[in-house]
Amino acid sequence: MSLAKLLDGLPIPIVQAPMVGASDNSLAVAVGRAGGLGALTLAATPPDEIAATVAGARAQLGGPIAVNLFINAVANPAAEAVDAALARLKPWYDQLGAPLPEHPNQFAPDFAAQLAAVVRARPAMASFTFGVLTRAQVEALQQAGTYVVGTANTVAEARAWAEVGADGICVQGAEAGGHRGAFLADVEESLVGTLALTATVIAAVDLPVIAAGGIMDGRGVAAVLALGAKAAQMGTAFLLTDQATTSAPWRQAIADAPDDPTRLTRAFSGRYARGLENRFMREMRPFERDVPAYPVQNRLTQPLRAAAAAAGDPQMLSLWAGQAVKLAKPGDAETLVRRWWGEAQEAARSLAKRTGVA
Ligand SMILES: Cc1cc2nc3c(=O)[nH]c(=O)nc-3n(C[C@H](O)[C@H](O)[C@H](O)COP(=O)(O)O)c2cc1C
Repeated sequence: MSLAKLLDGLPIPIVQAPMVGASDNSLAVAVGRAGGLGALTLAATPPDEIAATVAGARAQLGGPIAVNLFINAVANPAAEAVDAALARLKPWYDQLGAPLPEHPNQFAPDFAAQLAAVVRARPAMASFTFGVLTRAQVEALQQAGTYVVGTANTVAEARAWAEVGADGICVQGAEAGGHRGAFLADVEESLVGTLALTATVIAAVDLPVIAAGGIMDGRGVAAVLALGAKAAQMGTAFLLTDQATTSAPWRQAIADAPDDPTRLTRAFSGRYARGLENRFMREMRPFERDVPAYPVQNRLTQPLRAAAAAAGDPQMLSLWAGQAVKLAKPGDAETLVRRWWGEAQEAARSLAKRTGVA
């Protein structure tokens, strides 16, 4: 077996993007049932809960399952930096009547322990973002029977993953919603569109490519397959589905989105991410480069975002979404995946006609 064979063997070559804050096992199971590849979002999952999470999805699904982790270094910020970040956030907490958090002693789950738990859980595929694994880490996963996929925002990042022996690359175009995976260069130098990135990574690296960013329906799926991708990874397209855990104010903001509604910000988490612009993003823009790096700022704004969601306030919530969010549709995820594949087939038929093949 190879990753290419796994992806070629999927009845529908659609991979559900893992989405912290918007997806749990039920979305992955729905996508798997439709014939795509569901991905369990494990980045925020404590290591000792990973086995049960993977086992739970397996019990509901006969087919392959993917998992996803963020590659986080242990954060050990200076106390003064945390104080300064909290002081900057205090007016926002005050507006919601929510208490300012204490100094956390941990900012993100222990990545090494999460990785060890994933090795033990033996999913069919494990994808990673925010960095690159070591060759030994890649081999540990492969020896357990897990294909390793690295997220790349640039050709250089795809090459870095190839060098450590990854089985495939998930290219994340600039259009993509949520956090940027970039780990080699600044975000400004890592914003390549999905079309250009897919084609240039395929030309540079001899590995199967999963294309992500701005794919909202079957036309987008057909487009990246035509470029040579083995599968399309879709995130924003699932945000309004019944199985997504997208909060009510977030769903409403998507439904009300104006034209060209998304921007990049690092104000919420300390790492650039794309979302619908709101008041927090606008008013924090002057301090954008001053906030502590991920995962520190992310941890410090977590209670704020939870309080905003509970209050139904979209202005202090991270509303992650990709550039094509206006095309997001509500409905059952399993039905939508099947519909998108029907649309991709229709796109292929009309292309065959246009090119004189049929
Ligand atoms: C709400 C949201 C959360 C995301 N969380 C993750 C995540 O946990 N891990 C990850 O690798 N990518 C994450 N992403 C990025 C996706 O993997 C993917 O790159 C992106 O959704 C593709 O672009 P699209 O949103 O236009 O489909 C997230 C994206 C969104 C929209």
